[in-house]
Amino acid sequence: MGNAVSQNPSATFDNESAHLLVQARGVTKSFGEGDTRIPVLKGVDLDVALGEVLLLVGPSGSGKTTLLSVIAGILESDEGEVKILGESILELSGSEKTRFRRDHLGFIFQQYHLLPTLTAVENAAVPLLIRGVPKQEAFAQAEAILGSMGMGGRLAALPSRLSGGEQQRVAIARALVGDPQLLLCDEPTANLDGETGHRIVQQLHDIGKQPDRGVIIVTHDTRIFEFGDRIVHMEDGRVDQIQQGQEEPV
Ligand SMILES: Nc1ncnc2c1ncn2[C@@H]1O[C@H](COP(=O)(O)OP(=O)(O)OP(=O)(O)O)[C@@H](O)[C@H]1O
Ligand SMILES: [Mg+2]
Repeated sequence: MGNAVSQNPSATFDNESAHLLVQARGVTKSFGEGDTRIPVLKGVDLDVALGEVLLLVGPSGSGKTTLLSVIAGILESDEGEVKILGESILELSGSEKTRFRRDHLGFIFQQYHLLPTLTAVENAAVPLLIRGVPKQEAFAQAEAILGSMGMGGRLAALPSRLSGGEQQRVAIARALVGDPQLLLCDEPTANLDGETGHRIVQQLHDIGKQPDRGVIIVTHDTRIFEFGDRIVHMEDGRVDQIQQGQEEPV
């Protein structure tokens, strides 16, 4: 399938990497032990440039969520390296990873992972509260983002009282509120109607196009392909690149 993303999978990071937001090299990950061990990532190389919106597509079970989780430092890989803004995320201690994620990353989880006892606005404000932003200010910012997503009337609702699409928008607001440099979005439009999904992907795209930022969007949604600078295809734990835009052939 297509060309490999990297010319030399075993290459170490080069000097030309100043424009890169994410560099993943030779990332492998298996789940389980012994006979039940399943290799899920089989040596993934992936770069994301600053100012890039990268779409990651591929069949269910091909490893997309696993790869995003490794890039975010939520999941330990077995082998390989991941650098974000030049920082080797896999080498950080647990607390350093948490701090790095808090300061630089936003993650829109496929399963939302909202806190069930917090209202919509409280959930969306969590990243700011963790940073020590005063409550009133944090809620005002969370409210503004939720409002921009058509959620202004549902601020005080608990997740259990929200529809799937509403929960998804709270999860998106929570990822955006901290103004992250790298946004990792796992099927962000899966539960949204066409018009809302389009508006939100436009928002994600505009964030990613800023020169000191970038976005990875995992999606099955062909309607949003137009927003990607590159579309990277993942299959059976490996990535191949579909040429698009200004990419030079490798
Ligand atoms: N914690 C886990 N323990 C065991 N197996 C897992 C675990 N997480 C994922 N897997 C397996 O790894 C494979 C890849 O899963 P992953 O969630 O990364 O796929 P995906 O590409 O995101 O799929 P989808 O499009 O359905 O979200 C699947 O076969 C899945 O069953
Ligand atoms: Mg997934």
